[in-house]
Amino acid sequence: MANVVAREAAQFTQKVENRSARIGIIGMGYVGLPLSLLLSEERFAVTGFDIDTRKVSTLNEGGSYIVRIPGTEIQAAQKHGFRATFDYSEIANIDAVIICVPTPLNENHEPDLSYIRDTAKAIAPHLREGQLIILESTTYPGTTEEVLIPILEEGNSQQLRVSRDASTKGFYVAFSPEREDPGNDTVARRDIPKVIGGVGPVALELASAVYGSIFNRTVPVSTPAAAEMTKLLENIYRCVNIALVNELKQLCDRMNIDIFEVIDAAKTKPFGFQAFYPGPGLGGHCIPIDPFYLSWKAKQYDFRTKFIELAGEVNVAMPYYVVDQTIAGLNEQSKALKGAKVLVLGLAYKRDIDDLRESPSLTIIELLKQRGAVVSYNDPFFPYVGRGRHYDLDMHGVPLDNLDQYDCVLIVTDHSDYDYARIVKESKLVVDTRNATKGIRSEKIVRC
Ligand SMILES: NC(=O)c1ccc[n+]([C@@H]2O[C@H](COP(=O)([O-])OP(=O)(O)OC[C@H]3O[C@@H](n4cnc5c(N)ncnc54)[C@H](O)[C@@H]3O)[C@@H](O)[C@H]2O)c1
Repeated sequence: MANVVAREAAQFTQKVENRSARIGIIGMGYVGLPLSLLLSEERFAVTGFDIDTRKVSTLNEGGSYIVRIPGTEIQAAQKHGFRATFDYSEIANIDAVIICVPTPLNENHEPDLSYIRDTAKAIAPHLREGQLIILESTTYPGTTEEVLIPILEEGNSQQLRVSRDASTKGFYVAFSPEREDPGNDTVARRDIPKVIGGVGPVALELASAVYGSIFNRTVPVSTPAAAEMTKLLENIYRCVNIALVNELKQLCDRMNIDIFEVIDAAKTKPFGFQAFYPGPGLGGHCIPIDPFYLSWKAKQYDFRTKFIELAGEVNVAMPYYVVDQTIAGLNEQSKALKGAKVLVLGLAYKRDIDDLRESPSLTIIELLKQRGAVVSYNDPFFPYVGRGRHYDLDMHGVPLDNLDQYDCVLIVTDHSDYDYARIVKESKLVVDTRNATKGIRSEKIVRC
């Protein structure tokens, strides 16, 4: 049997090497679509699966719905065989399936694995021997073994089992976390080392072959759980350090010290310090969510992840701090927040991206409205904001004109297109949560 498995693995890697391996990416979102394009650039024929029929049609028409991905990139991929579908029966024709579906929290702040479960249920009937299934969605250690594999094994009528060693035939499974930093063009995607944990050595070998063709370095770890935990460590590290600077920012504000100046000075140390910056609160699909995947799992081991909880507490309180600072700024001008006209600049959770998920600006707008402010917003990426998982705003963006009509302009996201000198000049009061007005001297600025 070992020979059969070895032969199967050699055939698979050869198909990867000569680019005849067919790759399926499930979830054509911020992670899955760029990954598909990277594989297409390497001349793989990629099939993108999504349940969102609008995304499927847009892609098949050669269009894009992610601002930083132009339609021309989709059209170039189509020349290498890229196409999208919502028909899971096509899984049967695929050699390697990579799952990139969402992993949010539910209303009780617990992991919502329904997207992974639904995907596994949809794949299972079409599984075939020798196929490789890789999970990329961020999740708690144990998901691949405890959630994904049981559904795949139970849902296929041929009674295929996962192959755990070189002497067992079946399908192969690995976990490999996505480590992309949207909007960060300083590191090319190929240069981000790819961590991979396989269920057994053959799965690791096959997954390494696939990723080795598009990433300059692969980093094997011993199990999928180790790979799942690696991703969480990275994000928890960020979350805890951001909470630390957010806390110190509040202290510095009281002590009349500029935290940004302090961080710039501290980061000149050539070792032992990495700069993190304070802000109006955490946003995005990862940092505000992923740590809670681990705290939830830790409870099963009778373990409290105190750092995560404390960091969560500090970061969740930041939008409230921003609103308090806005009230203080208005107070200095003998105005109340109630009835004040406030223009929020930037809705996206970070600079120059079209992603609203968990953005602190949404909470800030809701808090300002609850306290009686008359709120408008401007964001070049979002002409309108409606209803989402945690907000219900129904607002249209306003142009960046007549800034002196507002009692306060509140910078929440520091998009690079904004002319901050002009904004300060034309506004009555500017509350800056991102140090976007660095270098501009004006009594009108409250930096918080
Ligand atoms: N966005 C990031 O920067 C980033 C970075 C690292 C890791 N991650 C992780 O990657 C995963 C995906 O995140 P994303 O940002 O791409 O999410 P996304 O919401 O942008 O995309 C997910 C896509 O999956 C589709 N989908 C949902 N259920 C499906 C199903 N059953 N079958 C087929 N398609 C389905 C959705 O329609 C959507 O298009 C998450 O676990 C996230 O935590 C994201």
